Amino acid sequence: MAIVPNDISDVIEADRKSVWHHLIQHKPFESIDPRVMVEGKGMRVWDATGKEHLDAVSGGVWTVNVGYGRERIANAVRDQLLQMPYFAGSAGSIPGAKFAEKLTERMPGMTRVYYTNSGSEANEKAFKMIRQIAHKKYGGKKHKILFRERDYHGTTIACLSAGGQPERNAQYGPYTPGFVEVPHCLEYRAQVETENYGEWAANQIEEVILREGPDTVGGLCLEPVTAGGGVIVPPKGYWERVQEICEKYDILLHIDEVVCGVGRTGTWFGYQHYGIKPDFVTMAKGVASGYAAIACMVTTEKVFDMFKEDADDPMSYFRDISTFGGCTAGPAAALENLAIIEEEELLANTTAMGDRMIANLKALQEKHRVIGDVRGKGLFCGAELVADRATKEPADEKKVQAVVGDCMAQGVIVGATNRSLPGLNNTLCFSPALISTADDIDQITMAVDKALTKVFS
Ligand SMILES: Cc1ncc(COP(=O)(O)O)c(C=O)c1O
Repeated sequence: MAIVPNDISDVIEADRKSVWHHLIQHKPFESIDPRVMVEGKGMRVWDATGKEHLDAVSGGVWTVNVGYGRERIANAVRDQLLQMPYFAGSAGSIPGAKFAEKLTERMPGMTRVYYTNSGSEANEKAFKMIRQIAHKKYGGKKHKILFRERDYHGTTIACLSAGGQPERNAQYGPYTPGFVEVPHCLEYRAQVETENYGEWAANQIEEVILREGPDTVGGLCLEPVTAGGGVIVPPKGYWERVQEICEKYDILLHIDEVVCGVGRTGTWFGYQHYGIKPDFVTMAKGVASGYAAIACMVTTEKVFDMFKEDADDPMSYFRDISTFGGCTAGPAAALENLAIIEEEELLANTTAMGDRMIANLKALQEKHRVIGDVRGKGLFCGAELVADRATKEPADEKKVQAVVGDCMAQGVIVGATNRSLPGLNNTLCFSPALISTADDIDQITMAVDKALTKVFS
């Protein structure tokens, strides 16, 4: 790294003066410098002071799955931009056609890709399709969409209406009508004591459907592994029952793979661990590892066919467009991203390194009483911190943030659930790139070990 800190002091001043950063209170920047990231290579990033960090959260929000500095992605994007940067998505593009084909080959049963530019927008497309199907087939009645407590589906008002995280939603209402919450399925904080919690939690969805009226419910939107709501891997038996319930009441199943999609959990998609058959799958972050903005809403031929049935009716097809869904940099980057995952066998690596991460965290749990629960799938892991193991009283959020801060000071960037559930932003999150080595994983958990010792003793 050849950065001299003062070289970009003008950038820091410009940032302080003109940029409004995401999800952060800005008052502290009146006396300290905002963080500006300037370079990345593999698993490591350098900030404007020249400090090196091991990135255990893939760009902060679980995105840079193949790591930084991938020349072949940059070259593919550059070549594509010179050849044809953009044309509206009502026409096709070379990388768009190729990537859609390659993607659906890895998603048996799914056949159609609708391009958008963010995870929120991809989810909005599925919501709109579910609503339009309700109008086409059920006179508009079967329009309600169920979502789960603790899940997050994006930043728009409709996505917040489907959001199960009160601290993301508060003060942004009134919300879009027709979205209804079902209970969470985090066994560590089970709502009841029961032998088969997975089945119980899924049955709560059926309770909600019966309460609302099955003829009013058109869709169910779930994360395969809840991300920002606390890294929640659904319990055994949950998904089988969810699928049965959807089939029983003719409800379209929408899986939000914005975080888990394209390798994060060790399979191409999180839902593929459970043998379920979704009607819609949305994805964003890992699709091109952040090298270009791309998101996809993928569905089945059965859904697709419903929108071309009445060719003479000008209102019957999907009347929707996303301007930047026509950018070709996205699918050009996504094609290379997919090839890298395959050629470097990163799915297998994710499973192996994820197992190592869980084993390391479980060893820390033996040592630190503050770790109440360790959970995760592939390279998406969480450690929930509690003040008291017996009562499971959550750890003080300031202390959880102090752990994150101490790791940062040690040069390791870890995450924690943030402004999601009141009093329950107490889960440390780890989602390093899929290229992680055993040494990287050990370095991450060693930093956590030191930070926990410092903050809690
Ligand atoms: C599960 C999930 N869905 C949707 C989104 C929204 O994606 P985007 O920020 O690209 O709109 C996020 C963002 O973190 C997410 O975690």
